[in-house]
Amino acid sequence: MANDKLWGGRFCVQTDNLTDDFNSSVRFDKRLYKQDIKGSVAHVKMLAKQGIISNDDALKIQDGLEKILLEIESGEFEFDIALEDVHMNIEKRLIELIGEAGKRLHSARSRNDQVALDTKMYTKEEILNIKNLLLELLEAILAKAKENIETIMPGFTHMQKAQPVTFAHHLCAYFEMFKRDISRLDDAHKRMNASPLGACALAGTTYNIDRYYTSELLGFDSPMLNSMDAVSDRDFVIETISCISFVMMHLSRFCEEIIMWCSKEYDFIELDDAYSTGSSIMPQKKNPDIAELVRGKCGRVYGDLMSILTVMKSLPLAYNKDMQEDKEPLFDSIDTVKMCLNIFTKMFLTSKVNKDNMYKSAKTGFLNATDVADYLVKKGLAFRDTHKIAGELVYYCIENSKCLEELSLDEFKKFCELFDEDIFEAISLKTCVEKRTSTGAPSPCAMGEVIETYEKYILEQKKE
Ligand code: ARG
Repeated sequence: MANDKLWGGRFCVQTDNLTDDFNSSVRFDKRLYKQDIKGSVAHVKMLAKQGIISNDDALKIQDGLEKILLEIESGEFEFDIALEDVHMNIEKRLIELIGEAGKRLHSARSRNDQVALDTKMYTKEEILNIKNLLLELLEAILAKAKENIETIMPGFTHMQKAQPVTFAHHLCAYFEMFKRDISRLDDAHKRMNASPLGACALAGTTYNIDRYYTSELLGFDSPMLNSMDAVSDRDFVIETISCISFVMMHLSRFCEEIIMWCSKEYDFIELDDAYSTGSSIMPQKKNPDIAELVRGKCGRVYGDLMSILTVMKSLPLAYNKDMQEDKEPLFDSIDTVKMCLNIFTKMFLTSKVNKDNMYKSAKTGFLNATDVADYLVKKGLAFRDTHKIAGELVYYCIENSKCLEELSLDEFKKFCELFDEDIFEAISLKTCVEKRTSTGAPSPCAMGEVIETYEKYILEQKKE
């Protein structure tokens, strides 16, 4: 035989080993075996329903595919690089197992619609897995937030102490971010609800196929309506990695803060020993390696996104082999984000919050200076004037190594006659936080309301 490949008819010699090796994707696409088999079963049921193959052949094929599934799952199946990809490996084995009938499976189908289908089904499933991990993280954040509604800490802008907030408030900022990530994933998932199967190589087929039937069997809303688009679209891969990049970006910000918080300079939290590491030379060290690694892996996922965007740039219609390069970035970003979410949630949940240190830190740095200015506004002055008075007071405090609440009323009055005894109560950290009652602000009462809606949100999401 000149060339024993499934497509070998028009070839005169065997493929070079180097070509087989370079061309093949089975090393990484074998993880699509379940989707491949599921897609083939749907395809074959449709072929039989439409009278394109006999019921008898269809049953034999389904039987064979089931056997192959067992072989793969028990580790018996031997994937062969010379058979290029998961699709041809399975088809070749099917023919080995059931003979003639196996050769009929690929009627009215091409690997081009097959690979698009498998990748899309895999991506849809993984989006749900990522979403569940995000929900677990949200539950962890909420649990910690509830324990820290009154835990006062400094809030920062420009990395400089700004105004007092609570740890719950700070944590719930991340709740919002990850909640948006879930909605981005949901949104991408919705757009994946059209099936490419039946687009064949690029131009559909002359067989009387029923694409609505396969699309329904496989849990899609409808078939994709342009066969060329169906085989050349990888938007869903790009969107998924893009959504994952957002998750990683948010995780990296959270990790950065955790790394700072567990340095002695802050000492706001302590990570559990189980999620920390030591140094090979410095015996005293306890390092936040996990948080650093999650932060670092964000870069790797951005790389995956850049790589698929660049592969798809300027590709002409329809299928091009370049598109085989979609899978490694997709799989890598999915594996990475799942690993990161899993360990991050455990590390975060087991961390210890040093409430006293947070409070002590909030006491320095004039976090209540805005409240001094606001106090005078309430006495009738304009904010621009009170801002200046408060600034002068801060300067006076720096010169005299005091904080604002340590000044005497006489000292306050030197800067403005309108100061009264009630200034001390007005600028205590507790008041500063409790009075910030606007929607979305840190006061325990405003936070309480928000936390209630978060609880409902989690319940609803879990029902879905
Ligand atoms: N392994 C290929 C991929 O991942 C499958 C599609 C190949 N199609 C083709 N006509 N060569 O993209």
